[in-house]
Amino acid sequence: MKSIVVLISGNGSNLQAILDACASGFIAGQVTAVISSKADAYGLTRARDAGCAAHSLSHQDYQNREDYDSALQQLIERYQPDVVVLAGFMRILTASFVTHFSGKLLNIHPSLLPKYQGLHTHQRAIEAGDSIHGCSVHFVTEELDGGPVVLQAKVPIFADDDAETVAARVHEQEYRIYPLVIRWFCQGRLQQQGNHALLDNEPLPQYGYA
Ligand code: GAR
Repeated sequence: MKSIVVLISGNGSNLQAILDACASGFIAGQVTAVISSKADAYGLTRARDAGCAAHSLSHQDYQNREDYDSALQQLIERYQPDVVVLAGFMRILTASFVTHFSGKLLNIHPSLLPKYQGLHTHQRAIEAGDSIHGCSVHFVTEELDGGPVVLQAKVPIFADDDAETVAARVHEQEYRIYPLVIRWFCQGRLQQQGNHALLDNEPLPQYGYA
């Protein structure tokens, strides 16, 4: 059984999809710990309800980003994870942290990368007049939202949508693609090789929506 550590900052609905996928056997792994950057994140309740170790680590208790990430790294290492999953973890990670977990650090981002890196992705897609939007799971590298894409899902944007309706539509797809990618990883089928993601040793396409 693979050990999965999930990092969150908020609601944790993606965490819930991952917990459910582990409970049903879809993912051959176990969420051994959930760590939140915010003490009041609802995802911590989800973690406790599922019987996982739940921690919060506030940046206010650390002098700088390096110290925070170093404490985070040590806490994660207690659980000897096979994979570290960022699920709505709203902090930029230091190069040293990313390098330490290189090849086993996954993120989900609410856009069709490389479009709309950073924040407010749904609003930006609406304002740009996009009719297609989506989400991406990728390996994390030092480049913010820039690591190799593993899987994307597309959703339509309709004329009367607002950021909330689009977010809900994107979320539904996130709950499908993130557990699937983690399943592949736990099956030993998924690897990062530099700027490529390989599934069964074949490079996955890097879609160009920019
Ligand atoms: C998700 O939509 C995820 O893609 C996004 O935060 C949301 C978390 O929701 N992540 C980012 O924006 C990362 N830059 P959740 O807490 O309900 O899973």
